[in-house]
Amino acid sequence: MDKLIIKGRVVLNGEVSVSGAKNAVLPMLCASVMASNSSVTLKNIPHLHDVTTTVRLLRQMGVSVTLDDNMDIQLDPSTIDNFYAPYNLVKTMRSSILVLGPLLSKFGSAKVSLPGGCAIGTRPVEMHLDALSQMGASINIDNGYISASSKKLIGTDIRFPKITVTGTENILMASTLAEGKTIISNAAREPEVVDLANFLNKMGASITGQGTDVIEINGVEELRGVSYTALPDRIETGTFLVAAAITGGHVTVKNTISAHVNTIIEKLRDSGAHVTTTETSVTLDMKGKRPVSVDIETGAYPLFPTDMQAQLTALNTVAKGISIIKENIFENRFMHVQEMTRMGADIRLEQNCAIISGKEELVGASVMATDLRASASLILAGLAATGTTEIERIYHIDRGYDCIEEKLRQLGADIHRVPM
Ligand code: EPU
Repeated sequence: MDKLIIKGRVVLNGEVSVSGAKNAVLPMLCASVMASNSSVTLKNIPHLHDVTTTVRLLRQMGVSVTLDDNMDIQLDPSTIDNFYAPYNLVKTMRSSILVLGPLLSKFGSAKVSLPGGCAIGTRPVEMHLDALSQMGASINIDNGYISASSKKLIGTDIRFPKITVTGTENILMASTLAEGKTIISNAAREPEVVDLANFLNKMGASITGQGTDVIEINGVEELRGVSYTALPDRIETGTFLVAAAITGGHVTVKNTISAHVNTIIEKLRDSGAHVTTTETSVTLDMKGKRPVSVDIETGAYPLFPTDMQAQLTALNTVAKGISIIKENIFENRFMHVQEMTRMGADIRLEQNCAIISGKEELVGASVMATDLRASASLILAGLAATGTTEIERIYHIDRGYDCIEEKLRQLGADIHRVPM
């Protein structure tokens, strides 16, 4: 197991390119099993453990998967011979549940381990299962596995009681090959959902309304293999912008979509950053200033993303003033707070709020990563702290950030990975 060693207080400067969006690529990999007669090529694939795990999952089902030198992935589902997602893979990656909709819709059968809890909350999937039942699937839960079967899914009106990203994606994928029309109301509007719908449409699906809270899908007979380039990662974009802000630096994030990070930019401007954008880049200049505290409240897109909450918590720990961070999506997503406190941060937790009194400086310490975004926030805290910060359990960061230490070093950061 490796750890990260960061010597803080280096002002970041320069340009960095973001990779493809993890949370768009994972459902697309799963959707690829629905292609008939030809293979799918996915481009702009980030180099991440979650991508490798999904590829392993698909391979053990018999899907033939090849990667070329550019990390483009080619998937040929014609060799699929089982519809089974075992516990040992699902437990490491909750989004494995995304194979359920495509397998059921295309092959009429799926056995997928229940994901269970994780560090950021309980994360149930009953909304996925209720919606598939409404489409006519027969679903049983036995020995920790979801067994689902259906002759043919039937399109219907689905209203999610609460917005769910992967729930929307599962039903979106399942309904492309269902009989008749499916309408998903209270659908997630995240850019990754839109990208998935665009990918499915390119495969021959008939989807409209993606990006709004009502998505309409007219079932088609078959989907074909296509080549598709996934959108850039907005959370990686936001994380580099906070890295610039927390070090008083000046950084341009390239190969992104600036419109997808509007709420993040707004908060960073409130914190005193000078931010300019083009369609595909964002430049943040903090001009060496200490940030000003900003209140954050997370919500479903287009509100402020929960996946950026920990990073803004880090920024507020060294900002001028008091801030309140309210986490509305995952009840337990404050595991980074205790670790930041070990670095001298002044944070009090009250139910789903963190109340932060900004300090002039944090002090480097040994800390432990607990989940993906918490790891990113500890790196940010380490970049701002005096002295040396050592971060253990960094396998979490490799699940969702492509070459993060190389990219930060490119901006001047003193960060290294060493074996423990
Ligand atoms: N929920 C239920 N029942 C369900 C499904 C969800 O109660 O059947 C609840 C959840 O517990 C949570 C809320 O609904 O309180 C929203 O959860 P959602 O289903 O939207 O989350 P998710 O689809 O499991 C995706 C991302 C997460 C991101 C959330 C919120 C992927 C693969 N994962 O998770 O990404 O935080 O949406 O935007 O797309 C990450 O990348 O670090 C990450 C955790």
